[in-house]
Amino acid sequence: MTARIIDGKASAASLTDKVASDTAALMSRSGIQPGLAVVIVGEDPASKVYVANKGRMAKHCGFLSIEHKLPGSTSEADLLALVSALNADAKIHGILVQLPLPKHVDASKIIQAIHPDKDVDGFNVVNAGRIATGVPGGYAPCTPAGSMLLIRQCLGDSLAGLNAVVLGRSNIVGKPMAQLLLAADCTVTIAHSRTTNLPDVCRQADILVAAVGRPEMVKADWIKPGAVVIDVGINRIAAADGKTRLVGDVAYEEVAAVASAITPVPGGVGPMTIAMLMVNTLRAASAA
Ligand code: GUN
Repeated sequence: MTARIIDGKASAASLTDKVASDTAALMSRSGIQPGLAVVIVGEDPASKVYVANKGRMAKHCGFLSIEHKLPGSTSEADLLALVSALNADAKIHGILVQLPLPKHVDASKIIQAIHPDKDVDGFNVVNAGRIATGVPGGYAPCTPAGSMLLIRQCLGDSLAGLNAVVLGRSNIVGKPMAQLLLAADCTVTIAHSRTTNLPDVCRQADILVAAVGRPEMVKADWIKPGAVVIDVGINRIAAADGKTRLVGDVAYEEVAAVASAITPVPGGVGPMTIAMLMVNTLRAASAA
């Protein structure tokens, strides 16, 4: 078997085109232009690329796109003051503070300071609680939400009874991913670095979501034949020519020979994350 390659780039493009046309409709109906504020602190090169991509996509969608680039020495108090000003700014419907933050800043404190109705990242405890309990109106984190769309494209609307294994337990991906799969009636296992017999656990999965941040950790013999494999990992590794290249958490070539469908890295989950940020921001503006 050779797996279908899940084209996250194409799915993200059709999603953002829809956001752009819905944004135009919202503006002509109500005069409201969705506003997204992205805050970046310091000089992390990967974060700079992500933030530039988010700003570009926000403009493509017709949003007001505001970037706050702050020096790495910015104090926690100054960052809290900025979040507070953005919470009060009627032109801004979505606030994203790019992670990681410098060590002297308590990232959790900043995230919890974002008003839940503007928390388009879905990281605030209020949104995490809404997603976990099924209370309507919550924003799901963008990477798990985008991954769910790709999974449904492969398997259809009903995922009931399927075994889903989520490899990784972060607040940003692993935990919310498990909640979304559970809400879709999957039987969900959260596996992680301390799980015993990890390959055996993963081999139970009809749907495997890898989000551990370890390059090419998931091998072909961890995969149930025909499984759908979603690779959330983005790892930069040394390449033969002295350069570097991006790989996921899944050993792509060998796993593609066993799975029924697999996301590539890059071009799989990554573009969907940005697209879902646009979806969440439009939703926040529509609810304003
Ligand atoms: N850092 C890596 N991924 C993300 C994300 O989805 N949102 C934010 N705010 N920071 C990140």
